[in-house]
Amino acid sequence: MKPIKIAIDGPAGAGKSTVAKRLAKELGYRYIDTGAMYRALTFKALKKKYNINDEESLKELLKKTNIEIRRNGCCENQIYLDNKNVTYEIRQPEVSNHVSIVAKSKQVRDYMLDLQRQMASQGGVVMDGRDIGSVVLPNAEVKFFLTASLEARAKRRQQELEKKGYYSDLETIAEEIALRDKIDQEREYSPLIQCPDAIYIDTSNYTIDEVVEILKKEIEKKL
Ligand code: C5P
Repeated sequence: MKPIKIAIDGPAGAGKSTVAKRLAKELGYRYIDTGAMYRALTFKALKKKYNINDEESLKELLKKTNIEIRRNGCCENQIYLDNKNVTYEIRQPEVSNHVSIVAKSKQVRDYMLDLQRQMASQGGVVMDGRDIGSVVLPNAEVKFFLTASLEARAKRRQQELEKKGYYSDLETIAEEIALRDKIDQEREYSPLIQCPDAIYIDTSNYTIDEVVEILKKEIEKKL
């Protein structure tokens, strides 16, 4: 059976990465978290005090940056920035609150696009992000658009953050997510959209197990 490419897009906190990881594990595929790549670049920009609103400054940053996703088993992505593991640091709220500004830049997106296509070139991948079905892998055999109500997404994000030791109230988290989605949807280059050929799933009232089952049934039709 030829390994296929599976694209999962959707707004922040829709459960994409949890579901994508589980699917990759069950299919024996590689999971690629593209959001982590934008986060890694943002982490460096903030740490080294680059001006993230300035294209020249981002150009300099890209010239001096190396981002790699290394595999830990099939499904745990370890993100390396300039050869250093930054998997945990890139989840900081400070990074979440600035990443969409960095991700607006065309040159940043072109840089990531090359890396992401290279990683997916052999097939057998589950890739999640915002522009996977529309731009990165337009020929993916199966495309999903996962979403959920803002309230459900904020609650999930809050639980995720708490596990990592970051505490914030639900309202603030919901506001931050809504702002990030707005920037991602309204940007000029590869905005977050639902592709016409993507299968739409509202995960608000489903458990992770239920969502994984729904996706698996759809994928089986293509295998
Ligand atoms: O998936 P995650 O929430 O970690 O993504 C962080 C941010 O990275 C998104 O809000 C978006 O601004 C950017 N991103 C993107 N394109 C992707 C993946 C993520 O612009 N394919």
